[in-house]
Amino acid sequence: MILKVNSLTKKYGSLIAANNISFEVEEGQVFGILGPNGSGKTTTLGMILDVTAQDSGTYSWFDSEAGSNQRKHIGSILETPNFYQHLSAESNLKIAALIKDVPFSHIDEVLLRVNLLERKKHAFRTFSLGMKQRLSMAAALLGNPKVLVLDEPTNGLDPQGIIEVRELIQSLANEGKTIIIASHLLDEIEKICTNVMVMKQGNVLAAGRVDEILASQFGIATPAKGTKSTQQQTNNNQEEWRIEIAADDLSLLEKELELLPFVVKIEKRKDTLLVILNENIGNSILNKVMFEKGIVLSHLSRIKKTLEQQFLEITK
Ligand SMILES: Nc1ncnc2c1ncn2[C@@H]1O[C@H](COP(=O)(O)OP(=O)(O)OP(=O)(O)O)[C@@H](O)[C@H]1O
Ligand SMILES: [Mg+2]
Repeated sequence: MILKVNSLTKKYGSLIAANNISFEVEEGQVFGILGPNGSGKTTTLGMILDVTAQDSGTYSWFDSEAGSNQRKHIGSILETPNFYQHLSAESNLKIAALIKDVPFSHIDEVLLRVNLLERKKHAFRTFSLGMKQRLSMAAALLGNPKVLVLDEPTNGLDPQGIIEVRELIQSLANEGKTIIIASHLLDEIEKICTNVMVMKQGNVLAAGRVDEILASQFGIATPAKGTKSTQQQTNNNQEEWRIEIAADDLSLLEKELELLPFVVKIEKRKDTLLVILNENIGNSILNKVMFEKGIVLSHLSRIKKTLEQQFLEITK
């Protein structure tokens, strides 16, 4: 067992930031803690990293008693890392290496790993947000820890930065590292985690394997594929499908769409319409229907049922 958490509780005055949290993380898992802002994710990570003192409850890493020796096997990024603005990436990592008691010879290796080797002489303040985030990952990787604890590792990144960090996490997971990751993005958890614990207002709502939890809690498994289990139908009888659609004459397109029985809602965007359907009507059918009405579609794409929205609904 990598980590066993028993009934950890943290209160701030009358606010219970984490209430009786219990979970287990096994070797090789990518364990996600999913929850909206303020649900207690960082508080929970803070407690297991010994940064935040719990009011009650216990935890143990690697089936052993608490002790500093274990910390060597755990690399972490907990919210904003403290790097020195004016120092280079390399110097910042030297400081981190000194603190962690890791030889400097490991620095180039981790910089290469996060694709920052060429920038090692550059000052931290000249880094983009994505590069800063990757440098925190590099610091967490110093000493080649068995376990990584990451708090919102893609927060604030642009789509390219998000992909880079996710790919890095995935490749680390593929090498067998155990990863514990907090995120408010369901989509992120779905993409990279094997296991998930869902939190809301300090409480654990559900926990288990990602595919099972996401299917039972969020009805994610099958909406686009047609066949649904009865359980999903009852859980999820208000399924909707979203498409983004455009034509040269947007208002004409909108008028025609309004007449279609399976169109629930049309939202105007800048150059497109966001259309919500209550049936899974294929692109080719839509294309054909519109073509018959004299409208040539200039754009038609499906939007995956917005996971974040469903997540918000369930944790509301
Ligand atoms: N030092 C503190 N003092 C007082 N309240 C705190 C403190 N730290 C956290 N809290 C409160 O505890 C609750 C949980 O906060 P926490 O940071 O763990 O949430 P989170 O799930 O990490 O949220 P986010 O997604 O915004 O990072 C919040 O209501 C927060 O305001
Ligand atoms: Mg947080």
